Amino acid sequence: MCPGFLCKIMPMKKIEISASLLSADFGRIAEDLKLCEDCGVERIHVDVMDGHFVPNITIGPVVTAAVRKHTKLSVEAHLMIEHPWDYIDGFIDAGADIIGLQVECYGERRLACRSYGQYPKEIDVLDTALFMRDCARIKARGKEACAVINPGTPVEVLDGVLAQAGSVLVMSVNPGFSGQKFMPVALDKIRYIRARFQGDIGIDGGINAQTAPQAVKAGANVLITGSYFFSSSSRQLVVQGLKTLSA
Ligand code: DX5
Ligand code: ZN
Repeated sequence: MCPGFLCKIMPMKKIEISASLLSADFGRIAEDLKLCEDCGVERIHVDVMDGHFVPNITIGPVVTAAVRKHTKLSVEAHLMIEHPWDYIDGFIDAGADIIGLQVECYGERRLACRSYGQYPKEIDVLDTALFMRDCARIKARGKEACAVINPGTPVEVLDGVLAQAGSVLVMSVNPGFSGQKFMPVALDKIRYIRARFQGDIGIDGGINAQTAPQAVKAGANVLITGSYFFSSSSRQLVVQGLKTLSA
């Protein structure tokens, strides 16, 4: 099914698979990176969490640099951290090719999630100028800026930035942990964005054999997968299956 009039004038974008390291074996990251390459994965998704924007702490620039050293695949740093602007250069220096910025860091938070310990973080209005400033910083260093949006933040906040954004990542779970259940609200967001945006649209959270076809039909072309890929006993088949999906 076509996600709007665009498919008549624009060929389907190639599907790319991004493996989320959060589900990898951290005691043998180099081996898991090699496995990703052997399976035909295009990107390595590094989930960066600070215990403030999300209720979990994970990876920083040091581990990202180690990942960079062991793979030629594109490395995307998904920054789920407060004040991401303080860390953009650090992650680029560490070797990230794509920097994912949560739009919820660029606007006044909803009352219900303003304090520490209140999750997920959501906004209703995006400070477009501030967000574009950081996208420009990333582009000026020759890297791609990706606008990431949480399930509860209205997709319309992206209206002012789509023309400039390198890519978009739609969260299909509330960020913080791998292995969560897919939230279908992400599909409406993807349809909305695809009708207005020709670049890469990724989807992140709860992707598996049931949910991936829906995401691709809606217009997503980058599939982030953590637990589904890493827990499978036939990872190569998982990647092949996801890549042959079509809208
Ligand atoms: C969630 C992370 C996701 C997650 C994906 O906060 O941003 O990248 O690790 O894991 P799965 O595919 O298991 O939902
Ligand atoms: Zn992620």
